[in-house]
Amino acid sequence: DAMKKLAAGNWKMNGNRAALAEVSALLSAHPAPGCEILLCPPTTLLAEMAGLATGSALLVGGQDCHAKGSGAHTGDISAAMLADAGASHVILGHSERRADHGERNELVRAKAEAAIAAGLIAVVCLGETEAERDAGETLAVIGAQLDGSVPAAATGSQLVIAYEPVWAIGTGRTPTIAQIAEVHAFLRARLTAHIGAEAGKTRLLYGGSVKPSNATEIFAVPDVDGALVGGASLKAADFGAIVAAL
Ligand code: G3H
Repeated sequence: DAMKKLAAGNWKMNGNRAALAEVSALLSAHPAPGCEILLCPPTTLLAEMAGLATGSALLVGGQDCHAKGSGAHTGDISAAMLADAGASHVILGHSERRADHGERNELVRAKAEAAIAAGLIAVVCLGETEAERDAGETLAVIGAQLDGSVPAAATGSQLVIAYEPVWAIGTGRTPTIAQIAEVHAFLRARLTAHIGAEAGKTRLLYGGSVKPSNATEIFAVPDVDGALVGGASLKAADFGAIVAAL
């Protein structure tokens, strides 16, 4: 697999301009990383972070976008606006958006189509709840999320898929290595059913309580092409250690 792995950080609703010092520290500690690095800050920090990233290995992304290109949608941000601010990626369908804002697969797919049309890479998130895993529904749930959320016309490199079990996000709990391997193999096959051999170019990220101490074993799992990191992406020391593990 010649594809470079991707260490993606999602700052969620954390960070202010002073926190950009962590980005400078990360870039000076890892000037030539062996993987791609993506940070998705709150929109208020996007343009300034993109400025810091210029000429470095760091890519910058948004955490959501609207499905429409412009118009009367107070408080929303379009994919083209993110691109204009320096973003190359946008996270879509994160479980916190699905829970807090009622986002359904159909809306996530419309947003992903808008993102790709604006030249962004769509980082589509999916994952089962604990109750769904306990009921043995994991593959059915994430299969339906993938079928409903992924644009039919996407090429492999226009997409990143992040598998984030809801019960592993921010909890310190992670699936077993075998469980991660099972889901990632399933996702690769399911994506191949949608976009054919192009699916081999799509990075499949694992997310949920990734930290320096578990990154190495998770990254060794077949079909894990990187990680989507929340809490541990906020500090240069932690995120840098995860970058170094890729
Ligand atoms: O987008 C990131 C994930 O929700 C994971 O968050 O690393 O804090 O568990 P976490």
